[in-house]
Amino acid sequence: MEQHRSHNPHPSHQSRPSAYKREREDNGRNHCENKHSRPSRPQNQSGPSRGQNPLSSRSLSTRRELYEKDFPVYKQPVEVGCFSLDSERRFFNDGRQMRYYVEPDRSPNFDLRDGYKDRFIKRDDSVKEKLDHMLRWILANRSKLSSKGTASSCDLDVDFVTWRGHLTKLLTAPYETREGWLLAVTRFRGTLYISEVETEVARRDRENRTGRHKEMMYWGYKFEQYTCADSVHGRPDPGGVLNTNEAFCTVVQTRLADHRLLFSGEVDCRDKDPNAPAPACYIELKTSAEICTPKQRSNFHRFKLLKWWAQSFLPGVPRVVAGFRDDEGVVVAVETFPISKISHLIKNEHNCWKPTVCMNFCSDFLSFVKHIATEDNPSVVYLLSWEPRRDVTFSVHRDSPYCFLPHWYVEGMTSSQHSHQS
Ligand code: A3P
Ligand code: MG
Repeated sequence: MEQHRSHNPHPSHQSRPSAYKREREDNGRNHCENKHSRPSRPQNQSGPSRGQNPLSSRSLSTRRELYEKDFPVYKQPVEVGCFSLDSERRFFNDGRQMRYYVEPDRSPNFDLRDGYKDRFIKRDDSVKEKLDHMLRWILANRSKLSSKGTASSCDLDVDFVTWRGHLTKLLTAPYETREGWLLAVTRFRGTLYISEVETEVARRDRENRTGRHKEMMYWGYKFEQYTCADSVHGRPDPGGVLNTNEAFCTVVQTRLADHRLLFSGEVDCRDKDPNAPAPACYIELKTSAEICTPKQRSNFHRFKLLKWWAQSFLPGVPRVVAGFRDDEGVVVAVETFPISKISHLIKNEHNCWKPTVCMNFCSDFLSFVKHIATEDNPSVVYLLSWEPRRDVTFSVHRDSPYCFLPHWYVEGMTSSQHSHQS
């Protein structure tokens, strides 16, 4: 059932479904095959995008000015399911890893370093899971998604399947000055699948993290352990083993302009109130360095709040609970940030980020992807590549190591289609 209520961070800002009405000037002319290009430097790298029409080019600009338009329609995200990953990263088609928020004191003095040496099992982040968990969820829940009896070329009734984290990178790209990205796209049975590929720079950074950096990455998970219980009436157990393989993920459906999206994202915990429906009951937990100077406050608004807003706005998670910690990893203050208030908080920052720029860029990026990724074939990958201060460019790869739709998924979709029709 279509729900026309738009999800707009500016209640005063008119949302206009017709804002997205670009003409496709050269439909079909910009398909470029480039089997041998390296992922980080596609050979079809082109110059600056032409004028205001990103679809007329082989590249897409991330310049902020181009996206300062009316806020696009973004439907209130609806949770269509969830899944869990256990301590060994095994998939379960249920919410067994859901955790419940237990409100801490405003100044709790949590020691985030506790347990790092002796009670920490870290997920192996050299293992690239790609979209596999989401694909498993889709196969197990196809009846919830398929076009029931309608003659649709799009089996799943969605245009895009991806992780929330990939969309977060798209939302923040117009403001990102440090880290580029590579996104692999495959069109299969009418749906576009988007899966991230680790850049060479990101791989090097991951392999060369300092001891201090590794420990600080633990602090965010430790804050979760201090503030979450495993059961609705339980208490947090900060003395237990912390295992970052475990995860609870929500799967949501929504629409951005004319793009129907299905994506999943990890959720830290939920409100104990049994009546609050998902995703409105969910809470995102964060840590951040304590703010002692006006400059630090300004940086927090400009950089941290952008990431926090983008990550939670996408799945409709309404609040972030932040633990502010000192340099020794002690949480000195806890504060709640309603996502709907973040755009007001940053209003006094000169030349600050704007939610409408993030959403309009994401919408135009998805239009660009629809336009270039025309061949419906699970062994074709369109690799979209972006570096700060550059345009987004792409290359095409056939039967390459970039292929990410597994055989079990391709076969499962094909055979369950048969059983669906019979
Ligand atoms: P913080 O959020 O407090 O930084 P998430 O907030 O997305 O649920 O992630 C939970 C924690 O994972 C983070 O806590 C941080 O500790 C760690 N983490 C995730 N991605 C990271 C990254 N790219 N770099 C460093 N730490 C990361
Ligand atoms: Mg978190």
